[in-house]
Amino acid sequence: MKIVRRVSELRDEVRRARARGAERVGIVPTMGALHDGHLSLVRAARRDGDVVVMSIFVNPKQFTESADLAGYPRQEAADAALAESAGVDVLFAPDAAELYPDGFATTVHVGGPLTQTMEASGRGPEHFDGVATVVAKLLLASDADAAYFGQKDAQQVMVVRRMVADLGIRTRIVACPTVRDRDGLALSSRNVRLSAEERSRATAIPRALEAVEAALALGETSVEALHARAAAVLTAAGISPEYVAFVDERTVRPVSEIADPVLCAIAARVGSVRLIDNALLALP
Ligand code: PAJ
Repeated sequence: MKIVRRVSELRDEVRRARARGAERVGIVPTMGALHDGHLSLVRAARRDGDVVVMSIFVNPKQFTESADLAGYPRQEAADAALAESAGVDVLFAPDAAELYPDGFATTVHVGGPLTQTMEASGRGPEHFDGVATVVAKLLLASDADAAYFGQKDAQQVMVVRRMVADLGIRTRIVACPTVRDRDGLALSSRNVRLSAEERSRATAIPRALEAVEAALALGETSVEALHARAAAVLTAAGISPEYVAFVDERTVRPVSEIADPVLCAIAARVGSVRLIDNALLALP
């Protein structure tokens, strides 16, 4: 595995691989502190392609809380070992000045309802500007044929899809299933900041999603009733969610009945850690 820190080196690596006959280049953008969720994306990229690029960059532009940015786990040596064993060919780990040099003045802003609800209200409107800007830069720098994202960040996938369609970036966006721990909690780099007690309370988040799915399977299609099921599970664990949203999977507009595919998304703070999770609901 080659580790590169400059955009020009990344371009050279991809160009060399293509000259050697590689046809399909995949990229897995991450902020490091790798876990099996990230590695599942590498495995998907490995299955589809000839060359797998992973980026590790804790993107300051998408953090809306300075404590979250400062406390974000950084462990490059361990990450490099994990990336290599999962099959990454090129690890792109730039510093902030490489991606945002002096004078940097461009922001990629995806507008509309997509960036006005859920995570945009929870984390601030600049969050998705930061994500769209860095992902656009990573896709252009790698010239990847496909880019792999986790369905755990469902709204992020929607924003990225909108952005590549609108800007005419040729990279195909692939969404991969959420990887969970044995207790159901979605893997997240932030989980290491949960105490043992917080961690066990946090499992109420996937349990709330399961309660919604179970009620839907029994024929309950009213969002008000499904919302109450989720809220009851969260409240019993002492969690008051930031949101429990039921939105149309394509438009992110709130729905009141489950008819078309609906995304049920939850964000909640457990202790000081903000967690998100979601499930795609469809009529049985
Ligand atoms: P990060 O939080 O490091 O996540 C990198 C990728 O891993 C994202 O696509 C995310 O959805 C995916 N991922 C995280 N946890 C997962 C899980 N449990 N199962 C499956 N996939 C999971 O998301 C970001 O970084 C950044 O916003 C980024 C896209 C890199 C832009 O800076």
